Amino acid sequence: MDTWRFYDITHHEHVVCNPTSQDKLARLVGLLRLASEPRVVDIACGKGELLIRLAEAYDIRGIGVDISPFCIADAQRQLQARRPGAKVVFRQMNGSDFRPEEPRSLALACCIGASWVFGGHAQTLERLSGMVAPGGWVVVGEPYWLEPPSAEYLGVAAVNRDSFGTHFDNVEAGEARGLQLVHTFVSNKDDWDQYEGLQWYATDEYARRHPDDPDLPELLERVAKSKAVYLRWGRDTVGWAIYVFRHRLP
Ligand SMILES: C[S@@+](CC[C@H](N)C(=O)[O-])C[C@H]1O[C@@H](n2cnc3c(N)ncnc32)[C@H](O)[C@@H]1O
Repeated sequence: MDTWRFYDITHHEHVVCNPTSQDKLARLVGLLRLASEPRVVDIACGKGELLIRLAEAYDIRGIGVDISPFCIADAQRQLQARRPGAKVVFRQMNGSDFRPEEPRSLALACCIGASWVFGGHAQTLERLSGMVAPGGWVVVGEPYWLEPPSAEYLGVAAVNRDSFGTHFDNVEAGEARGLQLVHTFVSNKDDWDQYEGLQWYATDEYARRHPDDPDLPELLERVAKSKAVYLRWGRDTVGWAIYVFRHRLP
């Protein structure tokens, strides 16, 4: 089954495609306090919710990139509906190929929930940090281990021990690269249950409406497996936070 179609179906109900609540996202937008016409990039922007909210709150010049044609189409639709005159564009491309017009020119660079694009959390911080101007914001969303993962969990989950660090490791990775952590938005169990539960709900809705889809058996099997892994282990093993960094003062 096509990867991006799989995510389009399973994330059909999501506005934000990560375990952050909409309230926390609104608080993030409020904190950033961007000055006039700031340049912003969101790498792996999903449905573009963060950029669109930033465009609603500030006069940004924004670009959102995502590899999924479904996400880019959703983001463009939402932008047209909510902020048609905004100076924001969405492009379908591999995030690792994105380069700002000039290095160190952006006010804000984000990558929420897709650090694999740059080869991991530390590399993501490195790349985003190189895009922003002095004093600029680097905002990333990253999982972390709540507790050491069990061998059973690692045997069935699509991650290994080194896939994530601890919450503190995620902070340290930025601090070691000249970034200062100024805030975190840590998801709670309700945020996680919402993120995971909407996938089960969307898949069930889809299955009832499209019983003849040839991809249905694979779709249902994959979602059932990830649901069981989440309920049995993931819920108590993996955390999630958005880390808000700024270039450290000289
Ligand atoms: C967990 S979702 C997060 C989406 C969005 N940042 C959000 O928080 O709502 C991961 C996103 O990464 C995108 N993605 C995966 N690989 C990518 C790549 N190589 N380049 C750009 N986007 C990618 C997926 O299409 C998906 O939208």
